[in-house]
Amino acid sequence: MQPFVRVLRSASALWPFYLAVVLVSSAVAALGLVSPFILREATDTIVGHLSGGGGGGGVADAPGAESVRRVALLAFALFAAEAGASILRNVSGYLGDVMVARLRQILSTRYFAKLLALPQRYFDNQVTGTIIARLDRSIANVTQFIQSFANNFLPMLLQVVAILAITGYYYWPLAVLLALLFPLYTWLTALTSKRWQKFESEKNANVDQGNGRFAEVVGQVKVTKSFVAETRELDKFSSHYANTVDITRPQSRWWHSMDTARGVAMNLIFFGIYLILFLRTLHGFFTIGEMVMLIQMTTMARQPVTMMSWIVDSAQRAIAGSRDYFKVMDEPVEPTANAELVAATAAADVPRLSTAAHRALPVREPVIAFDHVDFSYTEGEQVLADVTFAAREGEKIALVGESGGGKSTIVNLLLGLYPITAGRLTVCGRDVTELGVEDLRASTGVVFQEPALFSGTVFENIAYGKPDATMDEVVAVAKRANAHGFISKFADGYATVIGERGLRLSGGQKQRVAVARAMLKDAPILVLDEATSALDTKAERAVQAGLDELMEGRTTIMIAHRLSTIAGVDTIITLRDGRIDEIGSPAQLATSGGIYSELLRLTASSSAADRARLKAFGFHDGQPASDDADEAEDTDKTDTGDTDI
Ligand SMILES: Nc1ncnc2c1ncn2[C@@H]1O[C@H](COP(=O)(O)OP(=O)(O)OP(=O)(O)O)[C@@H](O)[C@H]1O
Ligand SMILES: [Mg+2]
Repeated sequence: MQPFVRVLRSASALWPFYLAVVLVSSAVAALGLVSPFILREATDTIVGHLSGGGGGGGVADAPGAESVRRVALLAFALFAAEAGASILRNVSGYLGDVMVARLRQILSTRYFAKLLALPQRYFDNQVTGTIIARLDRSIANVTQFIQSFANNFLPMLLQVVAILAITGYYYWPLAVLLALLFPLYTWLTALTSKRWQKFESEKNANVDQGNGRFAEVVGQVKVTKSFVAETRELDKFSSHYANTVDITRPQSRWWHSMDTARGVAMNLIFFGIYLILFLRTLHGFFTIGEMVMLIQMTTMARQPVTMMSWIVDSAQRAIAGSRDYFKVMDEPVEPTANAELVAATAAADVPRLSTAAHRALPVREPVIAFDHVDFSYTEGEQVLADVTFAAREGEKIALVGESGGGKSTIVNLLLGLYPITAGRLTVCGRDVTELGVEDLRASTGVVFQEPALFSGTVFENIAYGKPDATMDEVVAVAKRANAHGFISKFADGYATVIGERGLRLSGGQKQRVAVARAMLKDAPILVLDEATSALDTKAERAVQAGLDELMEGRTTIMIAHRLSTIAGVDTIITLRDGRIDEIGSPAQLATSGGIYSELLRLTASSSAADRARLKAFGFHDGQPASDDADEAEDTDKTDTGDTDI
């Protein structure tokens, strides 16, 4: 029960609802208890009249006006109590609905805040669909239980307590028998549930795996289609559900045989109760009215008992759900996570959040400094070793190295996505372990290797880093990124909806939107991780012109796939096996015999072996660097108009 209480306590902003629900439920319970008493009065009045005036077994005298008035009044009172209970039950239903919607809002918002504040590492080990499936179920289980508890079970529970007291007042063995029912039933239910839950969690695991995969496949359905793997995926998916059917059989058999046992136990106890009631009435200890009242009351107690199994069951589900929920909520957040976000993960109510873009750090030298940095994603598998370099303001640095050599990893560290294992990393003269991640990340504009966009319009995507951007600003950066041309050709222009993750754009179009997005962010540090790799040579040159302008005065880290792009930088850093091999200007490295000079040689060569070697570095242009550089210069002067493919 503990995690469950924790849910209620953590949403303490809802206390007026808790209080109102308890009060209205008590009133519903009290009104429900009035009926048996009224029935008792009515029965006794009628029986009194019939037996008192009927002399000689004949027809009773016509009832007096007093009796008629009294019976009519009692009928009206019955109506009033039941109508009142109906109204109040709906008031409590309304309160319960709103309370649960609010609870759901608070719990879901907090869960999302938590996920946003968790370190990148957490997501590396999870399948997104599974995270979502789990969130759905755990929050739904918790809120559904609270709703039915508030709306149905609480009034019943209060009634049961009152009924026990009333029957105890009339004849204590009745109360004892009734009271016995609850522990017996709960015990049998708990016994049932334990095994049932084990089946259920197996089923849930299957559903989570199936749905996790489902989300993944739907998200990249093109790959599945291209490998003609639809039937395989479908088969795997349906086999998960087939498992749930196989598990349901013994689960349901177990449940229903135990339920039969419970039913029989309950009927035995009621047999005792009726026997007592009838015999004691026959012996004159109860009036007929009292018997009617007691029968109605014990029948009222029967309902919560049968509901007991359902309540215990959904309570256990809710407890399991809240456990899942708190397992995520107890994960440690990024040590330097945004304070507002961290506060939102523990807020009693949904907080008001600032939605303005965060300000970049003031530039201080050296803008970026890696100082003997070691890094590994998983312990023991070192990805970067002893990386030391610094970038001055406005310096352009190119990272060159084989695929998997750790180039993107350097970008990840620069964004504070993973903590470094050893050494020191400073950005704008400040140690990243002491900087808030929002300061750090606001200072860096990135074009990622996979240009990930969001559903929504082109405008929203470009303005993602600056939500208050005007149309003019967005159009200006789109022009510089050579994206304006293709965007204006869309029927809806900047209001075009681009589908989930930008699925409705071509690879090159996506990349240009991503470049425009980074441009608009206007951060002092710029990171381009293969920012133009999806573009053809012509489009790339046009974008490159915009990028060159953007790089002006900004500290830039560039990972590129064309020597032409690299030739213009101030410094080249080559990586070999996670270590820095060489650092120097393109001119210095061209003749040093290291990776860069090898690349120059390979690019100039036309042998197949050399081409293959070149590919390992992610390079795919064949022209010698010098030629390319000349051409790039030409395009600088050309208009960055539309070169859409
Ligand atoms: N999230 C991660 N968890 C664990 N290992 C990772 C993760 N990301 C990358 N790696 C590993 O770290 C190494 C460096 O990867 P990185 O992405 O930095 O390479 P890269 O130089 O950018 O390569 P490419 O040119 O192909 O983009 C690789 O061996 C990769 O398998
Ligand atoms: Mg990479």
